[in-house]
Amino acid sequence: MLTLNDKEISVFEGETLATVILLSGGTACKLDKAGSPRGPFCNMGVCYDCIVTVIEPDFPNQRIKVRACMTTVKAGLCVFTAQEVSP
Ligand code: FES
Repeated sequence: MLTLNDKEISVFEGETLATVILLSGGTACKLDKAGSPRGPFCNMGVCYDCIVTVIEPDFPNQRIKVRACMTTVKAGLCVFTAQEVSP
């Protein structure tokens, strides 16, 4: 179990955060400089379009930027993406 944008989600061990975000119906991980939503593109750690902010349960006062496609789920993890932008 982890939280994605303050919503609890059941996950499977070994899944990446990118998988969790896409399966939860979200597509945007971050916003680019123009404010356009960006989501997982390469899914292999190259493009950095999947950057999300996480709070690890062991370090509750630290917000860490990670690549969602390269980070596996961890119980108690709090994940924050850019909120979906309405056109
Ligand atoms: S999707 Fe390209 S770095 Fe994660």
